[in-house]
Amino acid sequence: MKILGIETSCDETSAAVVENSRTLSNIISSQTVHKYYGGVVPEIASRIHLQLISKVVDDALKEANLEINEIDGIAVTYQPGLIGSLLVGTNFAKALSLRYSKPLIPIDHIEGHIYSGFLENTEIEFPFITLVVSGGHTILYLVRSFTDYEIIGATRDDAAGEAFDKIGKILGLDYPAGAKIDKLAKEGNPQRFNFPRGLINSGDFDFSFSGLKTAVRYFLEKNFKSPSDISEQDLKDICASVQEAIVDVLTTKSVNALEFYNIGTLVIAGGVSANSRLRSKIQETSSLKGFNVVIPKIQYCMDNAAMIALLGELKLKNTTQEAFFNYSFKANPTPIRSRKSS
Ligand code: KG4
Ligand code: ZN
Repeated sequence: MKILGIETSCDETSAAVVENSRTLSNIISSQTVHKYYGGVVPEIASRIHLQLISKVVDDALKEANLEINEIDGIAVTYQPGLIGSLLVGTNFAKALSLRYSKPLIPIDHIEGHIYSGFLENTEIEFPFITLVVSGGHTILYLVRSFTDYEIIGATRDDAAGEAFDKIGKILGLDYPAGAKIDKLAKEGNPQRFNFPRGLINSGDFDFSFSGLKTAVRYFLEKNFKSPSDISEQDLKDICASVQEAIVDVLTTKSVNALEFYNIGTLVIAGGVSANSRLRSKIQETSSLKGFNVVIPKIQYCMDNAAMIALLGELKLKNTTQEAFFNYSFKANPTPIRSRKSS
């Protein structure tokens, strides 16, 4: 079965073709213009999706060497996300489905992240834990099957990616700052500054990153007149120390959750799971304790349409095609917290 996936929930315009959980193409066009505003501007994001969507879908089909007629179904992200951005993808997908008589499968973006490990490793066994860590979410899910998962911990304030981005802004780095901090941290000393690890000993699986942001702000105010006074090496050491604090909490809580729930496998997903230190630390710590870790390729960690097509394929295989010619679903900006269905 060949499924075309479409993802436009935030600032990535993406289309992909997946066949039997294997990616034939995964085109991701990231909108860089938002760096001038220090964050994603919803109106601009939806306008750029409108400009790009047709070309991105064409490219995904071309790379997969397929015509639209050869596709068995279309999967599209319909929640959660920026409403204007979601509307572009869902309406484009509805039009394609109507024009070419292809089943249409609405997919939850976060569920896409939760199950994205299957793009890399179709052998993952349930139950497992997924850490979804991005600019908008920092959530630990206990995943029992494709239709049964629940939140076991989540951030009480900022998401980890938001912390990277906001701290980057204070340091004078462009939005989104996560990848830049990762790069600078490679030449920095992560032990030089001891930044707070929010809720690390709280005994539950919740996260808090707003205290770290405030601590960095006070630290800078105390030690430097302005970001331009920070030397190159100081900047690298600050980045490494901030990153270490975030990674430490994410790793500790994820491994604690594996132990508490007696689960053998951890999957990481979302933009922050592209972080090189998180990838190595979570791998080392989990392996030491005998846990299996699935760390998808970076193109599957960030927002991407392959994870949407993967779930679309699964749903289409398990339900009649007729069920998917229903265009009444609506783009929905708000997330759902758990799912359990038979
Ligand atoms: O999943 P994603 O592409 O979009 C959503 O937020 O849904 O994640 C984007 C986030 C941003 O906050 C960005 O700074 C962060 O992921 N990010 C990183 C890295 N690459 C992207 N954070 C830390 N290290 C990275 N290498
Ligand atoms: Zn996402």
